[in-house]
Amino acid sequence: MSNILTWYGHATLGLKTGDFSLLIDPFFSGNPASPVRADDVAADFILITHGHGDHVGDSVAIAKRSRATVIANFEICNWLSKQGVEKTHGQHLGGGFMHSFGYLKLTLALHGSSMPDGSYGGNPAGFLLTTNDARKIYFAGDTGLFGDMKLIGEEGLDLAVIPIGDNFTMGPDDALRAVKFLTPKVVIPIHFGTWGLIEQNAAEWAARVEEEAGAKVVVLQSGQTWTLA
Ligand code: NI
Ligand code: MN
Repeated sequence: MSNILTWYGHATLGLKTGDFSLLIDPFFSGNPASPVRADDVAADFILITHGHGDHVGDSVAIAKRSRATVIANFEICNWLSKQGVEKTHGQHLGGGFMHSFGYLKLTLALHGSSMPDGSYGGNPAGFLLTTNDARKIYFAGDTGLFGDMKLIGEEGLDLAVIPIGDNFTMGPDDALRAVKFLTPKVVIPIHFGTWGLIEQNAAEWAARVEEEAGAKVVVLQSGQTWTLA
């Protein structure tokens, strides 16, 4: 089986793992970096890290149209149910579940999580996915640096997808420190360049990380795919 990742700009990702299509934080409408429209994507599962509008994004519309199961914290799942999303699976920090596409655990994230309409969105999260071919992928979500990234790194990461944009999340310096804690084989930076406020030089950051942390950095262009070997 294969694991193919697509970056749609900002924090929006697609993952084709084996026969399953996952969307993570599907923010297409209003995302200036997205190369596709929400109407043109579908998924079996939608994973949402936290309640902010640039992460919940088009989840409701895509879930209804493609009958996807949405996985998020319990509070976000309740909110989605009220919007008419039929299939949700609530989890919470530290808890894992064996889904059809792999074992998914919710991890700590230092951030906020209010919903687009201001209602309570529970705690923000990251995702640690163990695929059915035993690959470990960490999606940090929106987060500041935290020391327990070391514990996540102990799991042995094939890939870490982390924010580097600064202002709302880790910036380049803290993201470099995060890579040292996480010790992944490969790092993909996201949550930068969408707007001027989070503009970063990803190529420069990649060179620093490869030099100082010894991880391979893959800088994707929006719409580009990358296959986990
Ligand atoms: Ni956020
Ligand atoms: Mn965000």
